[in-house]
Amino acid sequence: SLIKKRTKTIGLIVSDIRNNFFSSLAKGIEDECRKNGWTLILCNTSDNHQRDIEYINVLASKSVDGILYCMSIDSNLENFKQSYDLLGTLNIPFVMIDRSYPVPNPAIVRLDHIRGGYMATRHLLELGHRQIACVTGPNYLEDSRDRLHGYKKALDEAHITFDESLIFEGGYDMNSGIAAVDALFGKKFTAIFAFNDMMAYGVYKGLKAHELHVPADISVIGYDDIFLSEILEVPLTTIKQPIGLMGCAATKKLIAMIEDKPLAEKTTIFEPELIVRKSTAAYK
Ligand code: RIB
Repeated sequence: SLIKKRTKTIGLIVSDIRNNFFSSLAKGIEDECRKNGWTLILCNTSDNHQRDIEYINVLASKSVDGILYCMSIDSNLENFKQSYDLLGTLNIPFVMIDRSYPVPNPAIVRLDHIRGGYMATRHLLELGHRQIACVTGPNYLEDSRDRLHGYKKALDEAHITFDESLIFEGGYDMNSGIAAVDALFGKKFTAIFAFNDMMAYGVYKGLKAHELHVPADISVIGYDDIFLSEILEVPLTTIKQPIGLMGCAATKKLIAMIEDKPLAEKTTIFEPELIVRKSTAAYK
């Protein structure tokens, strides 16, 4: 028959399951699936684009009805296009989560990262910091570029000249945070904005190795608000992403697409929230 039999199964491809951002996301998605009698297959690419391609094919061979997709950090534009085209060729409905490139009318659920980057930087500026270092994600990822854009916007408004030498390009993992501190050591800065909490943990570690204290010597702000951030010895100030809600929204969107129901919107953008804890303090 021309009617494809549904398996009521969806696939989720995430980039780094060690990062609680992605386990919380998976949990939100699974909860929503279970509520509706759907099954979830979880695939972890360990940030390797080849596995994105492998898993898209595997999920297709298992006849999933749709895919939720958060691409690997090595997804430059060319890699992204490869995945995007493959999903199109296989004719599987998909919703991107968090990471994407501008494509016409994408089905995506993500945060307003320009605003998130802006809020984090404003917070540090309001505390009197003027020299703010950044540990970014990969430069070609839109979500990282947007955070940097927000950072620059806040500096601009405060009439502070952007200083390229205070920017370290990381890879959204803890080791990048450690490497960033080593690379930035000796430069003049009083605060660090890490573009995710995992890198902020690395920054903590790196600063400790250099005998610098948070926040007495250096203020640190993260991004994501994963659950460990609250219980660190110095609880981390961060930008909260409503991770579970985003997972739930993406699942609802995908199921509606599979069931050919009208979508209220193809792109859903959540708002960031500043969570002030103990890792940021007034500049003395
Ligand atoms: O921690 C994972 C990071 O990668 C998050 O900040 C998320 O926005 C993603 O792009």
